[in-house]
Amino acid sequence: MLDALILEVDRAVRTLFATAHSVRPVPGASIPEADLSEAEKRHVVALMRVNHVGEVCAQALYQGQALTCRDPSLKEALRHASDDEVEHLAWTNSRIRELGGRTSLLNPLWYGGALVLGVAAGKVGDRWNLGFLAETERQVEAHLAGHLERLPVQDARSRAIVGQMKEDERAHADMAVRHGAAELPLPVKQAMRVAAKAMTRTAYWV
Ligand SMILES: [Fe+2]
Ligand SMILES: [Fe+2]
Repeated sequence: MLDALILEVDRAVRTLFATAHSVRPVPGASIPEADLSEAEKRHVVALMRVNHVGEVCAQALYQGQALTCRDPSLKEALRHASDDEVEHLAWTNSRIRELGGRTSLLNPLWYGGALVLGVAAGKVGDRWNLGFLAETERQVEAHLAGHLERLPVQDARSRAIVGQMKEDERAHADMAVRHGAAELPLPVKQAMRVAAKAMTRTAYWV
C-alpha cells in the first residue's frame, strides 16, 4: 500500500517538475527550423503550452482512473496509454523550450483538478470511466485538429508533433471503445467541452 502510494506520488512529481523523456523520436526532429516572426513564435509557444497543459491533465486523469478502476487488464491498458501521454508531454515541452517559451505556471493546479476528476470517473465504474476517457480523447483529437489550422503553415516542426499526438489520441479513444466504453450523455459531453475551453483559454496566456 505504501509502495503503491510512493509510486503514485513519484508519478505526479515527475510530471510536474522533471523533464519528460520520449522513447519514440520527437516527430519532426529532422525538419529544419522554420522562419518565424516573434509574434508567430509567441503564438506557437502559447498553443504548445495549451497542449502541454492538456498532457499534464492526461497524466493525472489516467493516474486517477488507473487507481480506481477494477479490471486488471484495463488498468494495464490505461498505463500503456498514459506512457504515450508522457511522450506527448516531452514533445510539447521540448518544442516550447526550442522557441524560448515556458510551460504553464498553473500546472500543479491543473494536475490536482484532473486527478480528482480521474478518481471520480474511476469510482463510477469501468464502463463510464472508459466512456469519459473515450470522450476526452475525442475532444482532444478535435482540439488538435483545430491547432493544425491555427499553427503557422511553415512551422513543420510543431505541426509534426501535433499531427502525431492527434493520431495517438485517436488510438486511445479506440482503445477505450474496445474495452467497452459507454457513450456519455450529451449534457456531460457539453460540460466537458465548456471546462476544456476554460482551461485552454487560460493556458494560452499563463
Ligand atoms: Fe496526449
Ligand atoms: Fe491520449
